[in-house]
Amino acid sequence: MTNIAKGLEGVLFTESRLTFINGTEGILTHLGIPIQEWAESSSFEELSLALLDGKLPTGAELAAFDAELRANRALTPQLLEVIAAMPRGVHPMQALRTAVSYLGLLDPQAEETTEEARRAISVRMIAQFATVIAAIHRAQQGQEAVAPRQDLTHAGNFLYMLTGREPSPEQARLFDIALVLHADHGMNASTFTAIATSSTLSDMYSCITSAIGALKGPLHGGANEAVMDMLDEIGTPDKAAEYITGKLDRKEKIMGVGHRVYKYFDPRSRVLRDYAEHVANKEGKSRYYQILETIEKTVVDRLGSKGIYPNVDFYSGTVYSDLGIEKEYFTPIFALARISGWCASVIEYTRDNRLLRPDAVYTGASDQHYVPIEQRG
Ligand code: ACO
Repeated sequence: MTNIAKGLEGVLFTESRLTFINGTEGILTHLGIPIQEWAESSSFEELSLALLDGKLPTGAELAAFDAELRANRALTPQLLEVIAAMPRGVHPMQALRTAVSYLGLLDPQAEETTEEARRAISVRMIAQFATVIAAIHRAQQGQEAVAPRQDLTHAGNFLYMLTGREPSPEQARLFDIALVLHADHGMNASTFTAIATSSTLSDMYSCITSAIGALKGPLHGGANEAVMDMLDEIGTPDKAAEYITGKLDRKEKIMGVGHRVYKYFDPRSRVLRDYAEHVANKEGKSRYYQILETIEKTVVDRLGSKGIYPNVDFYSGTVYSDLGIEKEYFTPIFALARISGWCASVIEYTRDNRLLRPDAVYTGASDQHYVPIEQRG
């Protein structure tokens, strides 16, 4: 009997020093440091650099990296024209996939695959993802792109470019925390896709374009948008329990819960829940928050014994929604954060590269012969 690891579950294909996950206890660390500490004390810029270099940076290293990111924020007029010319009404993940691929056409270093080149391209992509996503948002609304500002943090500048308004320091910090929480997560589907592409020694833009395609699906990055669709469908908190029970009775999936690795609470969902609770205590519980509370209770009661608990996407949508961001942009924002993990993982894997080439158990026909088309029924 051949064992098939359907979905590659439990398959170990490489070593990594970046991220550790203990799914049964709900533990996530980057470079051995718990995600809660990164969220509380660090920034997206610092975590990105730490992932790229595999160590906590010194103050001088972080300042230099931050300055490099700021200096690389602007897009060329050529790319802005491409973004402005994209058809209206496309999903922003389609637009992002196309824009990042085009970004590669404009980068003279795009085809270089040395570690030095991959790192330099990564820094530019981390900086420019923010400008690209904000420009897509503006273009889809028929508005001109807002030029990046040098004096704001990565998170603050993104919100500024997205809305045209400078966010409050609290809003910028909250968004920064959300980026930190999403920056890396081991061998998830999109990181694996980026690595699979890089294992052929393909270029950085191809790796990241592939990863964007993998993140787009509703079982991965698209789940946070699907959670908001569900909340809108439920409408009011009093309908939540019945809606969820009905779905579970019909064996339908609830978005934002369950995880291939976590069989307990995803620690990132706890950080976001704590924030949502903090806001609820200060400003009263929003309708979305009340619905989520009921869903969490119903799901944990019904599915906790199967290891199904809220994942990071369960609360992230309400956080973004509180910041005035439309739900179609939740998955691009996931990409805005995960670009760091994708790039760092590709760089790490290619240091000791081996072409990824799994196999399938053949279950098709044997001993057949070609039948001319006119003799087939
Ligand atoms: N709602 C209801 N039941 C669920 C859910 C869910 N979201 N997830 C798993 N289950 C059930 C399964 O139906 C299965 O039940 P069974 O034993 O009666 O057949 C059992 O729990 C085990 O689930 P699996 O399908 O084996 O879990 P798997 O590891 O394949 O799925 C996945 C993980 C794809 C993420 C799944 O939980 C899911 O579809 N969740 C909803 C989408 C989602 O939120 N995705 C985001 C993931 S996190 C991220 O990408 C950032």
